[in-house]
Amino acid sequence: MKQLIKKLTETYGPSGNEHNIRKKIKEEIQDYVDELRVDNLGNLIAVKKGNGKKIMVAAHMDEVGLIVTSIDEKGFLRFSKVGGVSEFYLLGQRVIFENGIIATLGTEKLESMKELKMDKMFIDIGAKDKKEAEQMISIGDQACYYREFSDLNKRIIAKALDDRIGCCVLIQTIKDIGQSSNNEIYFVFTVQEEVGLRGAKTSAFSINPDIGIAVDVTATGDTPKAKTMAVELGKGPAIKIKDNSILCHPKVRNHLIQTAEKNNIPYQLEVLEFGGTDSGAISVTKEGIPSGVISIPCRYIHTPSEMIDYDDVLNATKLLTEALISFE
Ligand code: CO
Ligand code: ZN
Repeated sequence: MKQLIKKLTETYGPSGNEHNIRKKIKEEIQDYVDELRVDNLGNLIAVKKGNGKKIMVAAHMDEVGLIVTSIDEKGFLRFSKVGGVSEFYLLGQRVIFENGIIATLGTEKLESMKELKMDKMFIDIGAKDKKEAEQMISIGDQACYYREFSDLNKRIIAKALDDRIGCCVLIQTIKDIGQSSNNEIYFVFTVQEEVGLRGAKTSAFSINPDIGIAVDVTATGDTPKAKTMAVELGKGPAIKIKDNSILCHPKVRNHLIQTAEKNNIPYQLEVLEFGGTDSGAISVTKEGIPSGVISIPCRYIHTPSEMIDYDDVLNATKLLTEALISFE
């Protein structure tokens, strides 16, 4: 599974620009599902047919990024963010555009780091002037972090683990579950989560499932002087109670907890005081869809070096697989 994590995290795919990552996921799953389609917004929907409950499982394909807003006379690019990117993680980073152009980030002269704001920063693609820059890049082009996957044995560092790790869990679950579930399962690889859960919204509307489950990353409270949070790396997948987008439905939440207990899968309970995920959008679709979330604990979310524990990934896959089989 680590090879798959490397492959998916190193792929380019900021919100609204998911076709490269979608292609790779499609290749991985096409031989294992009964139906595969791409909807109007670009969500990849993979169906495993059955006569039982209709369950939608979502993981988002997109990652945070930058978008070019203007090009100056000297060929420097101004930009704004796509999703929750912080200035403090950008300085000195390299980013890559879809056409493969690699660039670095610089800033105007600052009196103090407190002045570090995105409008003081620029992307440097190494162009000698505006004319040359315009041959390389256009207004509206998007960049994402340019970083390699690192395997620390138990732990993994990579960009875009949010939420390519969720995509990996879904892919592995599709392979593991085989013919062992009677439920009709819609595995949805969503677009545009980072800019407002948009892909989950439209795909949930068209599928209209009985149950929704998202797989995404969540924050942890296990680093020095971190914001207090009862989630740690390596203690198992987190079963979400709430975040700012959802209060998880007791039916789904309890089913996940019972599945973990029954199968001796370690788990943690998650109360996230900020952020949201695809299940938030799914849960308020049509007349309301009972929804829950399996979260992979992740440090340094939305930075080029997010960190997860590999055992949490394996246990999340096990939990999702068993939960899908046993949902009645
Ligand atoms: Co995110
Ligand atoms: Zn996410």
